[in-house]
Amino acid sequence: MIIAIDGPAASGKGTLGKRLAKHYGYRHLDTGVIYRAVAYALMEAGADLHSEVLAVSAALELDPEKFGNPILKTQKVGEAASVVSAFPKVREVLVNFQRQFAADPPGAVLDGRDIGTVICPNADVKIFVVADPKVRARRRTLEARARGEDADEAAVLQDILQRDERDKNRAVAPLKPAPDAYLLDNSNLDIEAGVRAAIDIVEAVRAGRQRG
Ligand code: DC
Repeated sequence: MIIAIDGPAASGKGTLGKRLAKHYGYRHLDTGVIYRAVAYALMEAGADLHSEVLAVSAALELDPEKFGNPILKTQKVGEAASVVSAFPKVREVLVNFQRQFAADPPGAVLDGRDIGTVICPNADVKIFVVADPKVRARRRTLEARARGEDADEAAVLQDILQRDERDKNRAVAPLKPAPDAYLLDNSNLDIEAGVRAAIDIVEAVRAGRQRG
């Protein structure tokens, strides 16, 4: 089974993806990390983030062993990832890696922006996670502070709103729910309640299939 989880920045889709994968014994891929790794490779080399050619070569040399680097989680790298991810050729290079990950047994949960629409349009279950931007900014600020980073909530909110705009309005693979995605608004749900709601969706889809 393939479960696609999409949604905007800081919607909680990553945590949800990880928890769902654990629950079902599936592998999990946070696809945002891929774009973050590409962006960070350019930053590390002091290269221009706005160069599509350089971003494509960084994507071709992607090293999944580096996905665990905690620096990839920072706001600065996230902002840079939003820039490089708008290049169509960068996205094209990364499609196969993601599809291969999804296809390998026993099943997979992928979270990102375009999993249900572009990467895995035939995913068994698609969930689109949303939350109020102010709530997302609050959560992201608390997370950053917990990591010992200095975070200003108003600036985090600005970053989230800007990133939403860029992700929604880009020409290739814009952030939008697949027509057959289930919407999950977790503005008023804590992590546990969000995970339960997602499991309920997966189970409802499975039950529907067995009946059909
Ligand atoms: O989910 P995140 O904050 O880690 O994502 C970082 C950036 O990467 C985000 O601004 C848009 C981009 N991204 C994307 O374009 N497609 C994905 N499937 C995942 C992330």
